[in-house]
Amino acid sequence: MSQRQLFVTTALPYANGNFHIGHIMEYIQADIWVRFQRMQGHKVDFVGADDTHGAPIMIAAEKAGITPQQFVAGIAAGRKPYLDGFHIQFDNWHSTDAPENHALAQQIYRDLRDIPESQGGSLIERRTIDQFFDPEKNMFLPDRFIKGECPKCHAHDQYGDNCEVCGAVYAPTDLINPFSALSGAKPELKSSEHFFFKLSDPRCVAFLEKWTQDGKLQPEVANKVKEWFSVRTNPDGTTSEGLGDWDISRDAPYFGIEIPDAPGKYFYVWLDAPVGYLASLKNLLDQRGENYDAYMANPALEQYHFIGKDIVTFHTLFWPAMLHFSGRKTPNNVFVHGFLTVNNGEKMSKSRGTGLDPLKYLSLGMNPEWLRYYLATKLNNKNEDVDFNAEDFMLRVNSDLIGKFVNIASRAAGFLTKRFEGKLTQSFGEQGTALLSDIHAAKDSIAQAYDAREYGKATREIMLLADKVNAYVDQHKPWDLAKDVANNEALHQVCSLLINAFAELSRYLAPVLPSLAHAVEAFTGTAMQNWNATGNVAHIQPYQHLMQRVTPEQLEALFEPPALVEQRVAPCGEPIAPTISIDDFAKVDLRIAEIVHCEAVEGSTKLLRLTLDVGEGTDPQGRPITRNVFSGVASMYKPEDLQGKLTVMVANLAPRKMKFGVSEGMVLAASHADEKAEPGIYVLHPWPGAKPGMRIH
Ligand code: 2FM
Ligand code: ZN
Repeated sequence: MSQRQLFVTTALPYANGNFHIGHIMEYIQADIWVRFQRMQGHKVDFVGADDTHGAPIMIAAEKAGITPQQFVAGIAAGRKPYLDGFHIQFDNWHSTDAPENHALAQQIYRDLRDIPESQGGSLIERRTIDQFFDPEKNMFLPDRFIKGECPKCHAHDQYGDNCEVCGAVYAPTDLINPFSALSGAKPELKSSEHFFFKLSDPRCVAFLEKWTQDGKLQPEVANKVKEWFSVRTNPDGTTSEGLGDWDISRDAPYFGIEIPDAPGKYFYVWLDAPVGYLASLKNLLDQRGENYDAYMANPALEQYHFIGKDIVTFHTLFWPAMLHFSGRKTPNNVFVHGFLTVNNGEKMSKSRGTGLDPLKYLSLGMNPEWLRYYLATKLNNKNEDVDFNAEDFMLRVNSDLIGKFVNIASRAAGFLTKRFEGKLTQSFGEQGTALLSDIHAAKDSIAQAYDAREYGKATREIMLLADKVNAYVDQHKPWDLAKDVANNEALHQVCSLLINAFAELSRYLAPVLPSLAHAVEAFTGTAMQNWNATGNVAHIQPYQHLMQRVTPEQLEALFEPPALVEQRVAPCGEPIAPTISIDDFAKVDLRIAEIVHCEAVEGSTKLLRLTLDVGEGTDPQGRPITRNVFSGVASMYKPEDLQGKLTVMVANLAPRKMKFGVSEGMVLAASHADEKAEPGIYVLHPWPGAKPGMRIH
C-alpha cells in the first residue's frame, strides 16, 4: 500500500483541571492507532491542545485571583507527566488561546460571513436576543450560572437549562425566582445582539445530510445524528423540525477570541475549540519549517478526530459545516468512543473523574503498559462504554501478558544464553517452522483489526497465537531437554523458535506496548517499528525482566480512598474539627426554617434581619410564633432573594443580644475560612419536600 498522510487528533480537554482516566483512555486509543499506522510506514501527525476558553474557566481564574491566561498556563504545565507516563506520544501539544488559533478562527468566521451572493450568501446572521444579565457582575449569564425554582416541579436551586429533580428542560427565563449563581443577584433580562451560524440553511442541511449519512460514520453514530435532522428539542421543551441555527457569540466579559468587526463580542468557546486542532497542527508545521496551506491542500491528506460520545453534535454537524462552507477540507471521519466506568461504578464525569487517578496509578509504580493492554482488550470500534474492573484487569495482565506472552521469552532465553552463548539456530524443525508460519500468516488479519480500531480483536488473535506457542512449549518441554546434552540440538531449535515467535508477537503488540517492544528490540536485535519487518533473530542479549505481575496490594492501594490524614489537610482553609460523639451532635437542635420575612438592617452593611418560622405553632392570640435572627449574609443576598425560602437554623442556641436587637438562633451558611482567599457566604437550603419545623438528624 502506498504511504498515507494522516492528521490525527484527540478531543481537546478543557483547561480547567487535570486529566482524568477518561482522557487517558481516549489518548491511549488514539496513540495505539497512530503507532500502528506509523508501523505501516504511513506518515502521521498526531496533535492535541488545551481547550482554554469559555465562562467556566474565566470564572475559575477570577476565583483563584489570577488571569485566565495564568490559569490555563498552570493547567498546561501539569500535562506532561500524564502523557509521558502512559507513553502517549503527541507530536505537538498546543493551546486554543495561541495566536494561530485566534487567526484561524477569525479567518474561518470571515470566510463564512463573506460567502458571495452568487454562492448563496453569508451563513452568519445577527439577531437580537433577550438574555439574563447579572447586574452585580456586569455580565450576561451562561445558562449554567443561572439558578432558580423549577417551573414544573418547583424544586429550588435548579440550573437554567434543566431541572435535576424532575428532568424538565426549559429556558433560563422560565425559572421562578431566578438568581445568579455567581453573585446571588436577581438577573435582569437584557437584549443583546448575537451572531448565529445558519445551520438551518438548506445548503448546510443538504451538505450535512450527505456528510453524516454517506457511510463513513460508525452506524450507531450515523443513526443518532439522523434524528437531529428531523426533530429537535428546544430549550423550552418544545420540539421543532430540523437543524437549528447555532449561537456562536458571547458578550464581554468573556475569555475567548474576539469576533472580527464586532467590538465586545467573542466567539463561543465551541466555535474556536475544534479550530484548535488546526492551530496545533499549524504550530507543529511551523516548528518544522513546513507550509500549513500546502500541507492542507494535499488532496491525499486524511484527517481523523477521536472523540467521546458526548461531543458528537459538535464534530458531525458544526465542525464539518464550518470547514466545508469556509472552503476547507472536512474530516475524513470522527471516531467516537463511549465513556469509561470504573468497577461498574458511576459514569465518568468531566469534572470529577472516577476513582481511578492516573497519577496515583503511576506513583504506585504500576506499569502504564498494563493499562494500555487492558484497555486495548476492551476497546472496539463501537460507541460503547468500557468498564475498568480491577479483578478483570489483574487477570488479563497476569494471565495474558505475563503468563502467556512474556513467559515465552523468559523460559527460552536462559538456555540460549547459558548453553549457546546467546546464538540462535535458523532451523526450527518441521513443527517449529509451521508454527512460525502460522504466526506470520496472522499478520494481515491483526493489522486489519488495528486499522479498524478493533483492538480487542487484535489482542485476542495475538493471545491465540501465544496459546499455540505455549502448547508447543508444553509439548517439547525445554526444561526436560536441557537435562541431557544429547538433546542439545533439539533444545537449541525449540528455544530459538520460541524467541523468534516471541519477537514476532512483540511486534504485533508494539502499538499497545511500545516500551516493552523497545526492550525486545534491544534483547533480540530485531526492528520493532516496522510491521512488515522480516528476518529471524540471530543472537540475544542476556534476558532481563520485561514485565512484572500486577499484585492485589497495588490494586488495593489504587482504589483506597485518600488517607484520613490527607483528607484532614485543611479543606477550604480550615482543618476538620476534633471528633464528637453522636450525643454531642444531638445537643444541637437543627431545624428547617422558613424565612417568612427578610429585611435590610439599617446601620449595618453586613447583616440581614430574618423572621423565621420553625413550626412552633401560634401564640395564645393566634399569631404564628416566629424567631428573629440576624445573619451576616448581606454581601451575598438581597432580602427578596431569601424571603419565602427554606433554610436550616440552630433552634436551641442561647439568644444573643446584639447592637440591633436580640438574635434568637442562627442560620447555617458556608464560607471559606479565609474570606480573602475565597469570598462568599452561602446560606444552606434543603431539598424539596422539607417542611418548617422538621429536625435535621
Ligand atoms: O468536551 C470537552 O471536553 C471539550 N473541551 C472538547 C473540545 S474538542 C475540540 F473541539 F476542541
Ligand atoms: Zn423540576
